[in-house]
Formats: sequence, C-alpha cells, structure tokens
Amino acid sequence: MSLFRTKNIESMLAAARDDGLKKVLGPVDLIFMGIGAIIGTGIFVLTGTGALTAGPALTVSFVIAAMACGFAALCYAEFASAIPVSGSIYTYSYATLGEIVAWMIGWDLLLEYGLATSAVSVGWSGYFQSLMAGFGWHLPAVLTAAPGAVPGVHTLFNLPAALIMLGITWVVSYGVRESARLNNVMVAIKISVVLLFIAVGVWHVKPANWHPFAPYGMTGVFNAAALVFFAFIGFDAVTSAAEEVRNPRRDLPVGIIGSLLVCTVLYVTVAAIMTGIVPFAKFAGIDHPVSLALQYAGQDWVAGFVDLGAILGMTTVILVMTFGQTRIIFAMSRDGLLPARLSKVHPVHATPFFATWTVGIVFALIAAVVPLNVLAELINIGTLSAFTLISVAVLVLRKTRPDLPRAFRCPGVPVVPLLSVGFCLFLMAHLQPLTWVAFLAWLALGLAIYFLYARRNAVLHGGN
Ligand code: ALA
Repeated sequence: MSLFRTKNIESMLAAARDDGLKKVLGPVDLIFMGIGAIIGTGIFVLTGTGALTAGPALTVSFVIAAMACGFAALCYAEFASAIPVSGSIYTYSYATLGEIVAWMIGWDLLLEYGLATSAVSVGWSGYFQSLMAGFGWHLPAVLTAAPGAVPGVHTLFNLPAALIMLGITWVVSYGVRESARLNNVMVAIKISVVLLFIAVGVWHVKPANWHPFAPYGMTGVFNAAALVFFAFIGFDAVTSAAEEVRNPRRDLPVGIIGSLLVCTVLYVTVAAIMTGIVPFAKFAGIDHPVSLALQYAGQDWVAGFVDLGAILGMTTVILVMTFGQTRIIFAMSRDGLLPARLSKVHPVHATPFFATWTVGIVFALIAAVVPLNVLAELINIGTLSAFTLISVAVLVLRKTRPDLPRAFRCPGVPVVPLLSVGFCLFLMAHLQPLTWVAFLAWLALGLAIYFLYARRNAVLHGGN
C-alpha cells in the first residue's frame, strides 16, 4: 500500500496559510496570468499546420480542443478551491491518489512544462527571424531551424530558439519576482495584437476561401484538434499562484475558467479570419502564419506589429512555464522524490538556481534540434494524460473526502469528469503512433526512477 501513501490535506493547508507569501492577487490578475501562459506558439505558429490538417474547419478543431480543456478546467477548479496550495496537480494527486500517481503526474508535468518552453522558443525563433528579415537580416540557413524542420532546406541548429531559452533561464535564475503588474502589461500587449489582427484582418476575408470547409473530413478536424490543443495549455499555471491569492477558494476557479473562455473566443475568431484571408494550402512550411495572413492582405505594417507582439507574447509564455517547471521540481525535490540539490535556494538570488540552469540548458538544446510539431505532440500527450488523471482524482476526492470544504464544485459529477476523461483519451488517440512510443518510453523511465530512487528517498518514507 505504501505506493499509494498520501500527504495529509489539513497539514498542507496549514503550511500554505503560514508560508509568509503575500496574499495579494485578485480574480483579474489571475485571468491575466492565465492568458499570459496560454496565448503563444499555439495560436501564432501551430495554426498554420492546423489549417493544413483541417482546412477552414480549423475553427471546429479549436472548439473541440476547448471543450476537452473546459471539462478538465472544471475539475481543476474544484481542486484549486479545495486545496489551494502550490505544486498544482502534482500536489493534488499526492493528497488523493497516492505517491506513485503523484510521482508519475509530476514526471509527466516535467515533460509538459519543459518541452513547452522548448516548443515556444522554437515558435519565438520563427517570428524573430521573420521580423529580422523585414530589416534585411538573415542567419545562415543551417542555424535557422532543427534538422529536417524545413522540407528541402539543410538546417542543423535553431540558434535563436536556444538563445532565448538560455536568456530566460538567466532572468529566472537571477531572481525576477513574477510581478503581476509586469505580467499584466505584457499580456495587455499580447491581447492588443490579437485584437489588432482581428480588426484589420476581418476586412480582407474572402468567404470563398472557406470552401471546401473540411477538405479532409472529420479525421482532419480531429487530428488538428489534437494538435491545436497545445494552444490552450497553460490555464493550469493559474493554480501555481494558489498561495498568493486573496480569496483562493473563489478566485482560482474564476481565473481558470475565465482565461480559458477569453482565449477560446479569440482563437476561434483568429482561425476563421486566417483561413478566410489565405487559401489554407498556402500555409505549408510557414512558421509565422498569423503575420503571413496580414502580408497576404497587403498589410505589411500591421504584420510587423503582430510579429513584435507575438515575440513579446511568447516570451511571457516561456517565462511563466519556466517558473512553473522549477516550482514543480522544487516541490518534488522538497518531498524527497528528486535529489535535494534541486530544491536548494541560491543564497543571493533566492531562486532554485541549480534546478533552473539544469532545465534551462537541457531544454535549450532540445529547442535547437527538435522540430516544433514533434515537440507539440509530445507535450499534448503528456498534458492530456495529466488532465485525465485530475478528472479521475475529482471523483476519488468526492468519495474519500466528501467533508472537505469546496468553494467551487465541479458541476454534473460524475458526468463532467467522465466527459473530460473521454475527450482527453479521444484526442490522445488522434496523436501519431511515434508520439505514443516516445510518451510510453518516458513513462517507463519515470517508473524505473520511482522504484530505484524516489520511493526510498521520499520524505513520507522517512527519507532525507
Ligand atoms: N498555450 C501555450 C502556447 O500556445 C503553451 O504557446
């Protein structure tokens, strides 16, 4: 049974109350924070591949992906309101499903957050290079992308992607406090750019481009949904602020669901306009589809602004995700499941310095040599499986701790959590076989480390 030992919820809640962190964030901060982590490579880059896969029916793919996220978000919200402590889903499952499940989810989250930082760096690089090209600056082709990323071009190493990842690692390790105000400014710019695209683009839509609407049938629509699911990842980052929220039980659900709603509306609108301006087949091999649409419409100036906004926007995603990842590693290390060195705080910078640089270097290299689509699918499968588990966990917590106060209760239990599980498994089934192989290999590695290391060293086990 010790595989399924759980942490005590009441002592976690007490520790969170007395953690000394300032409880200053309100619901609007949280919605902005969610949007800060959500809008990025998914909408600015992957919509190109999405449009190639689904055709103009990409809008429907976005709605399907949003539904999967929506059901999972309701489950997340119940947990966040019942156990408002940091560590997100890893912590929730340590309290409910037991240690081995928590470990596997934490291991899964390392894949999600880590590879997400790499993937968004790759997206950042595409827009950065497009902006620089506007000034006539070009990198040698071999340094522009990962091997095999651009059909017909000999590429080796995505230098800008590696450099931005290292740059952010530097910032994070030197102790930037994740100031809600700074984040709000960056997010405001990001939303403005998306709204600018909508306001300008809508006048250039030619409805003829929407026919045929779904050239590859529902298979294309579902495959694209499994890919653009990526665009919604990040709303869970709101829960990482749990210990700094004024009224977490009420505001966390508002932040999670609010940011998801805003992004869904923006995404569906952008997808409709993009595919309305550009015949979808023209997105082949394009890594900056949103600004391409504006160039296509002859709006080069606006396209330049969109490039700039996309670059800033993606920077915040990398930053928030890097923070999120180091926080989860920190929590796992503090629980004894990862080496203690990873939760060591730097005496001057007050950050988990070693952990930050370790992940920064590893994921900078991955960003340099792995193409974006491969990364995105792996992140999706990791996240979808985590969402599946959180939905099951809601059902478990209702049975094991019906007494626990919950300011927000997931409606329609057990139907909604089961729908969430169903949607997530359905999208997972539409990912490529190679993605499954890589994912299963990652899980097997995780399981091996659990039995060889984590289980024995766990604090709950009386480890170090
Ligand atoms: N949802 C985030 C993005 O699209 C990961 O960049």
